[in-house]
Amino acid sequence: MRGVLVSFEGVEGSGKSTQAERLARHVESLGLEVVLSREPGGTPIGEQVRAILLDPANHAMDGWTELFLYLASRNQHVMELVLPALESGKVVVLDRYAESSVAYQGGGRKIGAQPVRRLNKLATRALRPDLTVLVDVPVAVGRQRKDAGSLDRLESEELQFHERVREGYLRLARRAPKRVRVVDGRRAPDELALEINELVRELLVRKGLLKS
Ligand code: TYD
Repeated sequence: MRGVLVSFEGVEGSGKSTQAERLARHVESLGLEVVLSREPGGTPIGEQVRAILLDPANHAMDGWTELFLYLASRNQHVMELVLPALESGKVVVLDRYAESSVAYQGGGRKIGAQPVRRLNKLATRALRPDLTVLVDVPVAVGRQRKDAGSLDRLESEELQFHERVREGYLRLARRAPKRVRVVDGRRAPDELALEINELVRELLVRKGLLKS
């Protein structure tokens, strides 16, 4: 694959979406072609699946149904958008990807990391990010940044659910410390962006997309 895949992960209110956007603009400013996308969603079909997933009216949804819907959105995303972009040498920046399912459905919903990892492999054709930026914040800090009046179906889950999600993410980072890099989401956005730019610059040089 000629391109590079970078994903952003974190609990609600971690600031990862802001950082994903900033990184996309920065990489563009280096003269590289960038695709910024998100999960669930990223394609017309995926966005329809997203609406089902986040609708607070769908409180009857079983944890496995939820997992399969995230995987359906992911499969479509990989086939329609991510793989073609990587094949044409672009830098793909994703606001959430496969690690979200391991943390939220594997950890939060207690399905377990193992089955989620196996199914992720099928839904992604084993496509792994070159780098995953885990924007880590304590759950309470993330909560404070959200408007309590407009929480979606997952955001309204109890505190312990989100604690399991954060723990699931940190476990992933311990398992693959080279690929999953933890950054402190409590830091000022400008400082954080500089740290992330540097991580990605090293990666782009290593992959031959940028001269050192
Ligand atoms: P989004 O609005 O993108 O949340 P955020 O702003 O926090 O990124 O909504 C995505 C929600 O879906 C979020 O609560 C995390 C959840 N999610 C999963 O549970 N599993 C997954 O595989 C993915 C991609 C997201």
